[in-house]
Amino acid sequence: MPLLLDRARRPLRDLRISVTDRCNFRCGYCMPAEQFGPDHVFLAKEDLLTFEEIERVARLAVSVGVTKLRLSGGEPLLRRGIEDLVAALASIAGSPDLALTTNGIMLAHKAEALALAGLRRVTVSLDALDPVVFGRMNGTGAEVSRVLAGIDAARVFGLPVKVNAVIRRGWNENQILPLTAWAYAKGVTLRFIEYMDVGETNGWQRGEVVTAEEIRTMIDREWPLVEHDGGREGATALRFHSADGRGEIGIVASVTRPFCGDCSRLRLSAEGKLYTCLFSGNGHDLRGMLRGGVSDSLILRALGGIWGGRDDRYSELRGAPGLEQHKAEMSYLGG
Ligand code: GTP
Ligand code: 5AD
Ligand code: SF4
Ligand code: SF4
Repeated sequence: MPLLLDRARRPLRDLRISVTDRCNFRCGYCMPAEQFGPDHVFLAKEDLLTFEEIERVARLAVSVGVTKLRLSGGEPLLRRGIEDLVAALASIAGSPDLALTTNGIMLAHKAEALALAGLRRVTVSLDALDPVVFGRMNGTGAEVSRVLAGIDAARVFGLPVKVNAVIRRGWNENQILPLTAWAYAKGVTLRFIEYMDVGETNGWQRGEVVTAEEIRTMIDREWPLVEHDGGREGATALRFHSADGRGEIGIVASVTRPFCGDCSRLRLSAEGKLYTCLFSGNGHDLRGMLRGGVSDSLILRALGGIWGGRDDRYSELRGAPGLEQHKAEMSYLGG
């Protein structure tokens, strides 16, 4: 299979597909309510890639080495008929891994349809177990019990679940131990995520980052941790297991231990722009080609050109002089 390599010889392996820029949460670190109020203009329906267009891009990406597809948003379960897209992607030759990242609030209703459609696994964001802290983190007061019910439903229908918790100082660091105890008891894989300076609207300050080292120390004091050989899961998370065999946790340390060196991820926004980095400001428009009757081979050539020209390593350069650049919102380009 021909592999696409970028300028740092990193292969293209993952395609993360945003299916909508809308969300029913307003997490302060992603879509703060003050910035994403009732007047906020989201993408119009005709601007969104259709399921056929998404499936075509995914199929072509798989034909040049992509082995992992992840649906995201915004909140992907808000896209009507999402299970039909899952079914289309599940039938792509080569059986790429197929995952979806969700806030979980609608998962209890959707888990069965997603599992039947061929989704392989699901990642649920869960920043707190305490209902008050959870309501504050999601910016809407949405109830944690509904997300927990979503996680249970996914497991009932055979979907392996990973849980992501973004930790923000002054907001939810008191949830680190309760979440860990919950995950160990439940047997789900939990990953803590350092708060990142993605987008332009969250007012990120370095002081609000609870570092991987702090998180690890806090857990280690309660339940001693052992770092896995190699330490990295895929490429994003540092991995640890509990010395007494209780369970496993990961920490995504994009701020203090960047992982650009082997980053193989390409992002497709809901309106069909390709972004070669989570912190890019400019995407490469594919929709024009998709709607312009262009052949598969020309689209593949464009893909090769975009990936071939890539030299992003934002997290490694963070804070360097002259790096200030406009950054797209994560809700738009997909986590
Ligand atoms: P698995 O396939 O289950 O290993 O998931 P994943 O590691 O691809 O990641 P997931 O979608 O669960 O993302 C975990 C966290 O890592 C999220 O906050 C992502 O935004 C962040 N993340 C994922 N990819 C990147 C990346 O390329 N760069 C940075 N800086 N952060 C990323
Ligand atoms: N920093 C770190 N993680 C973030 N996410 C969204 N915004 C940020 C941010 N600023 C997380 C979500 C979800 C994943 C896709 O990205 O909580 O788990
Ligand atoms: Fe929505 Fe996820 Fe962003 Fe929260 S982090 S506002 S759930 S897209
Ligand atoms: Fe990849 Fe950009 Fe994240 Fe580095 S900062 S890991 S290049 S997406």
